[in-house]
Amino acid sequence: MPSIYCQPASGIDLGALESLFTEHMPRLAHMRDACAFACDLNASFAISDAQGALLERSALLHDIGYAPALRRFGYHPLDGALFLAERDEHPWVVEGVLRHSQADRKCGMVCGAAEEYALRPPMPDAAWLVRAVTIADWRAAGVGSRVSFARRFQDIAHRNPHNPDKIRRAGIMVSEVRDWFLEWAEEMAENRPLPWVFCDVDNTLIRPGDTLSAENIMAIKAYTAAGGAFSLATGKHPLSIAPLARKLGLTSAQITANGTCLLDQGEVTVLADLGEAAQKLRTALESMGLPIALYRKDGIEAGATWEGSLDDVFDRYGEIRPVRDVQSGPVLKILCITNGADMKRDGELRLLAAELGVDCCRSDRHFLEFLPLSGNKGQAARTVMQNSAWPVLHSLAIGDTENDEPLFALCGGCAAVGNASEEARLGADWTIGHCDAGGVGAFLDHLRTSGGWAGLRSSRVF
Ligand SMILES: [Fe+2]
Repeated sequence: MPSIYCQPASGIDLGALESLFTEHMPRLAHMRDACAFACDLNASFAISDAQGALLERSALLHDIGYAPALRRFGYHPLDGALFLAERDEHPWVVEGVLRHSQADRKCGMVCGAAEEYALRPPMPDAAWLVRAVTIADWRAAGVGSRVSFARRFQDIAHRNPHNPDKIRRAGIMVSEVRDWFLEWAEEMAENRPLPWVFCDVDNTLIRPGDTLSAENIMAIKAYTAAGGAFSLATGKHPLSIAPLARKLGLTSAQITANGTCLLDQGEVTVLADLGEAAQKLRTALESMGLPIALYRKDGIEAGATWEGSLDDVFDRYGEIRPVRDVQSGPVLKILCITNGADMKRDGELRLLAAELGVDCCRSDRHFLEFLPLSGNKGQAARTVMQNSAWPVLHSLAIGDTENDEPLFALCGGCAAVGNASEEARLGADWTIGHCDAGGVGAFLDHLRTSGGWAGLRSSRVF
């Protein structure tokens, strides 16, 4: 990457973006998410402040050409770049917009566009920025929010069910763009040889009812001894996770109660709680006759309809038993026992969560979790890495179901175990071995012995 100094000294007033996208706010949300991902690229790689500012600006503006008022050729990268060039935007920002997501390769499909591209030869010094904007574009969902590369592809496939050619091209492209990131990611290994791995517990590392296998213990210990960082990222209460962390000799912070709190050196730090929504949720769920468990910092409290047989289920999962007495302290999350196959009930409960302004996700076939909007495994992983001054994208997630999705979206890469839900597998960069066949340990061994990121490519099969 060249180190010339290049400050965005001119260009459009970013305050005007809202008025350009009045009728198209999801598009603007996507552009802002791409910009947020570019911020993580800047913070994770050795990008100078000046170049980082240009990257963020390019990512924010990359789809400005979709604004109806800017339409000329009907080809958004070109329309956006022409508009920005006329407003004295920095040439690298114009270049990032003009060529993002291989726009110059596809311009032949639009009348007159190829001639315009021919007038504007590529800028070799800005090639890295074009790639970085493209990576950011492919980690920002089409309708806002951050996603894994694989989930972005799934979104495109879902939105274009009758356009198999578009789906095929998107599939080729996501593999290529992911590989750009993976090659670049090797730079992050200069000081820290292996990525920080955040690993779900139930059905990923341990099958409920089993104990941690000797192979997985050895693999995790070897991984951390080789300079990798490893954290458990679980829905379980910190009191249940403490013995596991000790057994594995982990000195890192563990993500517990689905990201609402951390367990670090035996201390529990609360990151988020349900606030006033907790009581309203409790009332609503209990009036439906549903068994619930309220997670607080010091323990788990059983709801009114909790049955003794459910204690056995918790025992099998290695979770501490809920107590019948009223506990004190804020409610971090509420776990509701409800069968995932009952789609009608599932839909009702998700609607209830939306009405109360909380998140809702499934952590198991029988467990539906209500979480604060600011409490999930992804946000907690960010906090853990930032507390250790670790580059946020120098990280890998391993999981099996819906509550791992925010972790998949946050980390540099993500893997689903072979027994994961179909949705989780479709949203992961790789599918690794099954939970009960030591999939996690084998993946860690592969990372350790093949140089971390250097051993990962889109085509890699586990
Ligand atoms: Fe985009």
